[in-house]
Amino acid sequence: MQRRKYVVIMAAGSGTRMGEKLPKQFLELGGKAILQRTIEVFLRACEGVSVITVLPKEYISYWRKYCLDRNFTCPQVLVAGGITRFHSVRNALARVPDGALVAVHDGVRPLVSEELVKTLFNEAEQKQAAVPVIPCVDTMKVIENKDGKLAAVPGAKADRSLLYGAQTPQVFHSEVIKKAYDMAYDTAFTDDASVVEKYGTPISYLEGERFNIKITTKDDMVLAKAIYDLIR
Ligand code: C5P
Repeated sequence: MQRRKYVVIMAAGSGTRMGEKLPKQFLELGGKAILQRTIEVFLRACEGVSVITVLPKEYISYWRKYCLDRNFTCPQVLVAGGITRFHSVRNALARVPDGALVAVHDGVRPLVSEELVKTLFNEAEQKQAAVPVIPCVDTMKVIENKDGKLAAVPGAKADRSLLYGAQTPQVFHSEVIKKAYDMAYDTAFTDDASVVEKYGTPISYLEGERFNIKITTKDDMVLAKAIYDLIR
């Protein structure tokens, strides 16, 4: 029997790197909030998926009103975020039962394709954990920022052929990721795969998508609009 599907949409960041007052997940892309566009990809890709949206506590009523005003009526469990992304995910996982599949996805990645979402859910059904990655195309440098001055770390090298960028959605058997998130927080936990890997579960890595960008800065917004116009 297939596992029930959940998606945890991470949108509890303050979005300060965008330089706007409104956190970036609420800015509009093609006339809809980035966050709404992100949720809609999952609704189209997985029939019957349960949506858990993690928001800054102070924006929960804002989002509820936005959805009502726009007639965006998909059922969502709204959860308040925590101090770091790790704590936000942990808050959301408390709302997911064991025996399900759960995708954790950045609310600011609205350009992920339905195909990639489906592929990752299928892979995770078989393998417990499925994560999209893209090969690194730039030459990577190991550099320290000492009071605003950039300097190479002596002797440190990064072999580009071994480096990949991790994306979301990252999809897991829910009982696995829930146990992994019971571990104590570590600053090295910058995504869900790093938590689940530390817990000891092997990850199945699949090819991600270049257009599945994480909208973080003003430049990303320009890029996202261009990609959106191209693929819509
Ligand atoms: O900070 P970072 O860019 O890694 O954030 C990735 C995603 O995690 C964003 O969608 C952001 O809204 C979310 N996040 C969160 N809770 C936090 C920090 C970030 O849900 N405390």
